[in-house]
Amino acid sequence: MQNLETTERDALTRIDAALDEGALEAIRIELLGKKGSISELLKGLGALSPDERKTFGAQVNAMRDRVSARLADRKTQLGDMAMEARLASERVDVTLSPRPELSGRIHPVSQILDEAIAIFADMGFSIAEGPDIELDDYNFTRLNIPPEHPARQMHDTFYLKPKPDGSRHLLRTHTSPVQVRTMLAQKPPIRIIVPGRVYRMDSDQTHTPMFHQIEGLVIDESAHMGHLKWILEEFCRALFEVPKVEMRLRPSHFPFTEPSAEVDIRCDRSGAEIKLGQGNDWLEILGCGMVHPKVIEMCGHDPAKYQGFAWGMGLDRLAMLKYGAPDLRAFFDADIRWLKHYGFAALDVPSLAGGLSR
Ligand code: DAH
Repeated sequence: MQNLETTERDALTRIDAALDEGALEAIRIELLGKKGSISELLKGLGALSPDERKTFGAQVNAMRDRVSARLADRKTQLGDMAMEARLASERVDVTLSPRPELSGRIHPVSQILDEAIAIFADMGFSIAEGPDIELDDYNFTRLNIPPEHPARQMHDTFYLKPKPDGSRHLLRTHTSPVQVRTMLAQKPPIRIIVPGRVYRMDSDQTHTPMFHQIEGLVIDESAHMGHLKWILEEFCRALFEVPKVEMRLRPSHFPFTEPSAEVDIRCDRSGAEIKLGQGNDWLEILGCGMVHPKVIEMCGHDPAKYQGFAWGMGLDRLAMLKYGAPDLRAFFDADIRWLKHYGFAALDVPSLAGGLSR
């Protein structure tokens, strides 16, 4: 007859010595698996006399229960230990202050974009987006700029290689194609802003081949130029965080609006910094107008029922004005010293309630 006490003691010692859940499982199989040593003991009971079977059977069963309980305990223990080891190895010291020389800065364009979004979101606009690589049809034709229209030259477009069928993709020259995409996809009322990158072959102090715009589009049954003017004035006031911004609406022409206007802001560009609200210079910040009925029609809506206005403004220009940066090209030079000077702290998220740029 096997010495049950020794078997049990050995089993418990091995269980306690198991160092991980894999080893523990192997021990469990050796003891309690189909061919495990304790299972074999139970199988041997049949060969015993009824009396022996009763006492020995009870003892083996009791032992098996104790061994199972110890296995379960050890499993919990090993699980806890593994979790603790993992927590210790993945620990992050959130009290450690950032090293200033390593902390990143938010680019003025990202900052002004967050500010603009906060303002327009407060007015009830939602954000729409479109691709940088755009169809000619959306960038031009459906905005009432048919092929051969002289306005196409003015856009200094970067074209992609023509496809076999002759159609060409291009780098969008403005965010206006997202007006088209939105009108094709949804029914008025529409109230969207469209932030994004745009591209033109152009480079000087106030032009770079890639720059940023925010487009706005409102289409419903009664939107008019007065609403547009109010929105733009409110926007400038909130953005520049001053009671009044001197704005000038000049009559202008865009094929996709009628009537059209351009908006300038008074500033002083005589010194090293560009200054807002003084001086005799005007910086053009946006184009706008009432959406041309032909555009509404080409985008799938009835111009006799729907009308609205749109604008497209240069975000980089707004950042130059607000933060006094005189040269647009520096925005994209990735010069860390420039970013240190003009950049923003990462945790200062702009909000109207918090004061946009503090
Ligand atoms: N897309 C024009 C540009 O980039 C700006 C513009 C003018 C947008 C008038 C508009 C608009 O939506 O109505 O020069």
